[in-house]
Order: sequence, then C-alpha cells, then structure tokens
Amino acid sequence: MTNRKPQTTSLLNIREPDDWHLHLRDEVMLSFALDFTARQFARAIVMPNLVPPVTTVSVAEAYRKRILAALPEGRNFKPLMTAYLTDEISPDEIALGFENKVFTACKLYPAGATTNSAAGVTDVGRIRKVLERMQTIGMPLLVHGEVVSSKIDVFDREAVFLETVLEPMLNDFPELKVVLEHITTADSVQFVQDARASVAATITAHHLRIDRNAMFDGGLRPHAYCLPVAKRRFHRAALRKAAISGNPKFFLGTDSAPHQKHDKESSCGCAGIFSAPVALESYALTFDEEGALDRLEAFASEFGPLFYGLPLNEGTITLQRTDFAVPQTITHDNLSVVPFHAGETLRWKASERAAR
Ligand code: NCD
Ligand code: ZN
Repeated sequence: MTNRKPQTTSLLNIREPDDWHLHLRDEVMLSFALDFTARQFARAIVMPNLVPPVTTVSVAEAYRKRILAALPEGRNFKPLMTAYLTDEISPDEIALGFENKVFTACKLYPAGATTNSAAGVTDVGRIRKVLERMQTIGMPLLVHGEVVSSKIDVFDREAVFLETVLEPMLNDFPELKVVLEHITTADSVQFVQDARASVAATITAHHLRIDRNAMFDGGLRPHAYCLPVAKRRFHRAALRKAAISGNPKFFLGTDSAPHQKHDKESSCGCAGIFSAPVALESYALTFDEEGALDRLEAFASEFGPLFYGLPLNEGTITLQRTDFAVPQTITHDNLSVVPFHAGETLRWKASERAAR
C-alpha cells in the first residue's frame, strides 16, 4: 500500500464499467446473480463453465438468450459469450462463433484446475490448431493460469504455470491476444508488464483486499476461498500497485462466482467468491485507500474495451462516499448466498445504471 492520502471527494462520476470475467451460472442462480452485475456493469465476459460447458455456438446462443430473458424489465446489459476449450473442440466451431459475433473469446481451463473444469484442456499441445486459428482471426484467449499437478503446492501453481505453459505458448503464438485471468501474484504482474502489448490481465476486487490469511482468520473461513487462491500479503501489494498503475494491461474482472452457502460451508467447500453485489464499491474502497480514485475509471471502464477492441460505454455511474452495510447473506427463492464483504460496512455506494 502506498502512503498517499485518501482523496476527500464524496461523489465520483465514472463512465459505465464492464466486468471482464464473470460467472453468471444458470437457472435460478442466474436469475439471482445477474441483476447485481447489470446494476453496475454495462457488459460482462460470461464464463462458460456450466454443466455441461458452453462448447458450441448454438449452446452459447441459447445461454445468451437465457441471460437476456433473466434481465429485469428495463435493464439493459450485454453478455459477451465465451467458448470453453476442450481437447476436442474444433477450430471451425470457434471461428464460426467469433465471425457471427456469438463468441467474444475462448476460455482455457486446464482440466481439473477449478470449478467445473473437468472437461477442460489436458495439454495445450492438443489445441494447437484452435490457437492458430484464434491468432489468425484475432480472437482473444482467456486463461485460467494454474497448473494442476498435485505435486505442485497450491500456492505455487500460478507462478509455475507462467514458466511451464504460458511462456512457451506465447512464444509459439506470437500474435495471439491473451488475457491472464484473475492474477494473484507479483510474478504474474511482472510477467504481464514485461510481455508484448497483446498480453493483459484481469484483477479481481477480492484479490486486491484479501491475502491468504483471510482463510484462517480465527478459524476456517470458506467464504474467502477461491481459485486461484489468495497469496501472501506482498503479492496483494503488487496487485494493488498494478491496478492503480494506469498501465492499460491491467483491467477489471471480478470473477464473481456465486455458490450456495451450504456448498461453501462444507467438508469440501467450493471455490468462488460472490462479489457482484459489492463489486464497484470494493474496487472503489481499494483505489480510495491507495489515493488513486482518479485511476478507477480507466481500470474499470476504459482499459478492458481498449484491449478487446470494443467501444467505450457512453453512460455514467456515480459512486457516493456513504456507509453501505453489506448483508451477511442474500437469499432468493431457495438460495442463500454469502456475498464478499458480508457483514462489513463499506465506505462507497454505487448508483444503479440508468435504464435505457
Ligand atoms: C470459479 C467458479 O466457481 O466457477 N471459482 C473461483 O474460485 N474463481 C471458477 C474460476 O474462475 O476459477
Ligand atoms: Zn472465474
């Protein structure tokens, strides 16, 4: 953290932001989770790790329709769909989806790395033809950057991935656009800074706030568990520095990943932090603490579209410096979900996006 003094602004108007990494789920969880995001974000990159995963154009189109149908009346929001890469996926399928503007990007989950990734890629060598095609057509690859070997310590899996998978892949595909998703380490910050311009990274709200101790604060804290797992404090400091740096390679992606409370509070709890209800407020808190509120807009609303080659949003959203009490749990039908910052009082509250 820097020693810069927090700014005293009480209202902050920024261009409407986008979320470049989001889990919306399906069915009742979708109708629960979606509006939290759509209140604050104009667009989001929607992760394809449903069961079964989104691997074809027609499945993605149907999912996009379900998302739009689940939006409350008068709320506009653009889901940007992604294809889930498997060992078998065909280059033609992803190219067709990209040309038809159904797919915005492809997501690479190393098989077994995280929630619903069992059907992911077992070896990058198996998707060479897909990566070649993506490089040719300019389709971004979004990477869950962790190796899966049980021989590698879970806290080292991101750093090992950079060396053993990402670096060789970037060398093999020198023009491929790559987003290293939800980075958690100083190593990744350095890697992305040093990489070519077509390599960027998203940073979550929670990795800017928690370090690994949050999972063990007075007892086991399943709601602080996500993947990639939070690392040491100095890694968090490096992420904060990157987020406020003004370097366009680092932009907002919440990785908001709702799971039912009982699925997290279990003998084998799910990975994922549900930050959508507090996303912008949490980022604002961090930027405020860093004396960098003036950099929030670029991080949240400009660098993402710049990287993806999409237009900036035209509307604005207002953040107000006021107390915002976050509930312990949020319920909907038979769902009960614990949000990030549960039970805390935050210092910022975002206005809802205007209906258009
Ligand atoms: C995500 C989920 O629950 O789908 N979980 C998480 O901890 N972030 C998957 C992911 O992005 O790794
Ligand atoms: Zn994710």
